[in-house]
Amino acid sequence: VSLFAASASAQNYPERSITMVVPFSAGGPTDTVARLVAESMSKDLGQQIIVENVGGAGGTLGAGRVAQADPDGYTILLHHIGMATSATLYRKLAYDTLNAFEYVGLVTEVPMTIVARKDFEPTDLKGLIDYVKANKDTVTVANAGIGAASHLCGMMFASAIDTQLTTVPYKGTGPAMTDLLGGQVDIMCDQTTNTTKQIQGGTINAYAVTSPARLKIFPDLPTAVESGLADFQVGIWHGIYAPKGTPAEVTERLSKSLQLALKDQNVTARFAELGTEPSSEADATPAALKAKLGEIARWKPVIEAAGQYAD
Ligand code: MLT
Repeated sequence: VSLFAASASAQNYPERSITMVVPFSAGGPTDTVARLVAESMSKDLGQQIIVENVGGAGGTLGAGRVAQADPDGYTILLHHIGMATSATLYRKLAYDTLNAFEYVGLVTEVPMTIVARKDFEPTDLKGLIDYVKANKDTVTVANAGIGAASHLCGMMFASAIDTQLTTVPYKGTGPAMTDLLGGQVDIMCDQTTNTTKQIQGGTINAYAVTSPARLKIFPDLPTAVESGLADFQVGIWHGIYAPKGTPAEVTERLSKSLQLALKDQNVTARFAELGTEPSSEADATPAALKAKLGEIARWKPVIEAAGQYAD
């Protein structure tokens, strides 16, 4: 009977509101992407998707929360590249990255920006690198914990300039940005979904973008590569996951809703304003997100070279 009941409820899914866990603080880049997509998906699903921020441990606490949730489609996770990097960074994770989730689809791949507090003296990336190396014992780098995109980019930066730097972890780069604006922390590598407004407002300094080409919204902001950091490219892909065992009818229904949301004018226009774009219809599928976890192999050597693990 329970199997019959389960499949019947999967057919009528969703019958009540859905919780979308964001594994970082409210007001940060991951939260921004989640709330935009959740609002649009809610319309299509006819049920409210409620975003719940579960911060800590670079996103792995929130991911673990969803890994252990009932596989009924009423608890889902929106997470980014940190799902792949955490698989190497954490010696002990509360979940088995490649076996704890079902896949819904990719959402967007967001570029990052290397930024600093407003009164930081350097005016270009080369000047920033020289300054940071000369003041390596005092410069502080904000991130959202080991496993965060800001951690990955900061780690790549420290490796690229061959300098160990002091990092200041937050539960998200929303609160980190508050301290950057207040001058309590010096530099950060964060996604355009969180830095665009501040860069346009001139309240922080921007030095480079991590995308292959310059961004339409920041035509005068050079790429890290053209500024001399060879191979310094990273895009923060975001995916939606459900706990292992969630019925395929449910994940397919969510994927269909995600694909519609990524065509929603409100979502695409806002993404463009924030320097990013929606994943294609083909990428907003369970198979495309599952394939993206292959990036664990890409980042493993980068992490091993930097040697920054979490115990
Ligand atoms: C990250 O660095 O992974 C994100 O900025 C975290 C967040 O969305 O706050």
